Amino acid sequence: MKNSSEKKLKIVTIIGARPQFIKAAAVSRLLRDEADEIIMHTGQHYDENLSKVFFDELDIPTPQFNLGVGSGTHGVQTGEMLAKIETVLIDTQPDWVFVYGDTNSTLAGALAAAKLHIKVAHVEAGLRSFNRRMPEEINRILTDHISDTLFCPSEVAVENLANEGITEKVVIVGDVMADSLSYAAEKAEMNSGILESLNLEPGQYYLATVHRAENTDDPLRLENILDALTSLDEKVVFPIHPRTRLAIKNYRYQHYLTASNIELIDPLGYLDMVRLEASARMILTDSGGIQKEAYWLRVPCITLRDETEWVETVQSGWNVLAGGDKEIILEKVLNFEIPENHPELYGDGKAARKIVDCLIQSLLSS
Ligand code: UD1
Ligand code: UDP
Repeated sequence: MKNSSEKKLKIVTIIGARPQFIKAAAVSRLLRDEADEIIMHTGQHYDENLSKVFFDELDIPTPQFNLGVGSGTHGVQTGEMLAKIETVLIDTQPDWVFVYGDTNSTLAGALAAAKLHIKVAHVEAGLRSFNRRMPEEINRILTDHISDTLFCPSEVAVENLANEGITEKVVIVGDVMADSLSYAAEKAEMNSGILESLNLEPGQYYLATVHRAENTDDPLRLENILDALTSLDEKVVFPIHPRTRLAIKNYRYQHYLTASNIELIDPLGYLDMVRLEASARMILTDSGGIQKEAYWLRVPCITLRDETEWVETVQSGWNVLAGGDKEIILEKVLNFEIPENHPELYGDGKAARKIVDCLIQSLLSS
């Protein structure tokens, strides 16, 4: 039996894509004091502005392992991660593996660990879009079913798990992205010069992001979205994901990017992004994380998808599903009414503390 005074838990944190750096940062900051944390970067995202910038801004230690997997088809990418993660886990023999969210890095990490009988903690468990054509939905379902502890952001997530027969070791902690946002909000306000450098007035621009496969891999949908953005009545700041840039080039849609109201920029670091979000008149996005940030920052959000996992934001009236049709998108923007109420959603910004406390309790009781 392990005793806290004899041995610290050894945790391997497996991350690889932009939102995972932001999520893991909050937990890692506390975990480092209580456990031996080894950070493993799969290399799924490798551009400096999709990866390194978040380690610098959010004080995440340099990963002890970078697997350098890079881009590929789902099978190639996930398979290569699986093999490489397994090797590191065999060498490091952790007590727990922590995985975050719903990317291919999440699934590969959970699967490699589960097959080695290493306990898996899934942070952001229980989310469902009920659309199995989304790669993320497959990753979520499989990861949840092989995890030993499931840290959920909401009651809805707990219910989703219960509906699939998962009721043990399910803990509501809230959303770690709220922790990261509150860590960064003030720093962003003080340190980011993005509004000034783009010559933006608060409340007088839209912010747009697009990267979901359902939008980038469907030429008609992507054209509708770009057409809608170029038809808006204010400047649209568009930090473009490399996947979307590539799709636009392949479909020969570059003319939309040079429209007079489009401010096309490279992906941003977190502090600049938070500052831009906070002062936007409205956000148009297909991102999961940005829907929540818009809510927490009380900025109206138009979600460029047919469904969302973050259903509470839609129920609150602060987020509206607009799909990928130009006219519907424009109609939703025009008719958006800011709700009077803003209930607390996804916890109080102390999810990471609760996660680490759960872990320590399991150590004391094992
Ligand atoms: C991945 C996740 C998605 C998450 C998103 C966050 C999966 C299946 N998808 O999508 O859930 O919302 O990250 O941003 O795990 N590329 C670069 N540089 C990079 C990384 C990618 O140019 O550093 C380009 C490559 O052309 C690559 C494409 O982007 O093929 C897609 O990258 P990938 O990591 O496979 O998926 P994302 O669309 O980023
Ligand atoms: N983000 C960022 N810079 C950008 C775009 C997004 O820092 O140019 C942040 C955003 O604030 C949020 C997270 O990245 O915290 C969301 O990641 P993304 O949209 O890539 O993935 P998803 O949440 O959809 O999985």
